Amino acid sequence: MITAETLDQIRQALDPHRRDGRSIGFVPTMGALHAGHARLIADARSGCDAVVVSIFVNPLQFDRRDDLERYPRTLNEDLSLCRTVGADVVFLPEAPELYPTPPACTVDVGRLADHLCGPFRPGHFRGVATVVLKLLNIVRPQRAYFGEKDAQQLAIIRRMVRDFNVPADIVGVPTVRDDDGVALSSRNRLLSAEERALAPALVRALREAERRIRAGETDPAVVRAGALATIPDDPRLRLEYLELVDPEELQPGSALSGPVLAAGALWVGTTRLIDNILCRP
Ligand code: PAF
Repeated sequence: MITAETLDQIRQALDPHRRDGRSIGFVPTMGALHAGHARLIADARSGCDAVVVSIFVNPLQFDRRDDLERYPRTLNEDLSLCRTVGADVVFLPEAPELYPTPPACTVDVGRLADHLCGPFRPGHFRGVATVVLKLLNIVRPQRAYFGEKDAQQLAIIRRMVRDFNVPADIVGVPTVRDDDGVALSSRNRLLSAEERALAPALVRALREAERRIRAGETDPAVVRAGALATIPDDPRLRLEYLELVDPEELQPGSALSGPVLAAGALWVGTTRLIDNILCRP
C-alpha cells in the first residue's frame, strides 16, 4: 500500500494504473475509520482493479471550529484498516495542499441543502461538494463509494456529478449498524457509555416512521408525531430535526407517496448523530 501526501505523489501513484487501463475505485473519508468505511473499501476492492482511499478532515465543511478541532483523528489505526481491507493507495493531503489559497469558486448545492442537516450546518454541503469535486478531479476514479448513512450528502454528490458531467459512477453503500441498530459513525466514539446507551433513540424513531409508512399512513404530520413520541424524555437528548423528504430532491411533500427518506439528527450530550431510513409505502 502506497501513501501519498502531495498532488504530485498521488499522480505518480495512479499513473501506472491509468497507463495499464486498470479501473480505479475511490473511497473519500475524513478518517476515524470504522466497519462502515471497511465496507466501502471492500466494495471498491471487489468492484475495481485499484482502490484509493483519501483521509482528509476538510475544514471547508465544518461550520463550527470546535467541531473541526474535536473531530476524531486516528491515523495509525486508519492506515492499518486500509491495509487489511486492501487499499492500494491512501491519499493523505494536508489542508494547504488542497487549499493553497482560500477557494474563490465553490459548489453551490442550491435547494438540496434547504432541509435536513442543511439549515443547521450553514455552508456544510457547499464544503462537502467542493472537496468531493476536487478529489474526484484529482483521483479521476471510474467509481466512487459513499455511505448511505449520509443520505443528504450522497444525494447531493449524485446530483453534482450529474450536473457537472463528472465521469465517475457514484455507488451508495448500505449503512452498517451495531447490534442495537445504531448506525456506525466516527462520532460514536465521542459518546460516554451512558450516552451510547441513549443513542438507539434515533434509529427507533426512524423505524417507527418506517412502520407507519409501510402500514399505509400518508399524512407526514401523523408519521412524524408517531416517530417523535418514541424518543425518551431525557435532558441529554435533543432532537435537531426529524423530516420526511423525497430521496432525490430532498423536499418535504404534503402527502406521502412513493419512496420517502425519513432522516433525523439527534444530539446525545454534546455529540450530534444523524441517521436515516428509506421507507417504501
Ligand atoms: O463523509 C465524509 O467523510 C466527508 O463528508 C467526505 C465525503 C469525505 C468529504 O469530506
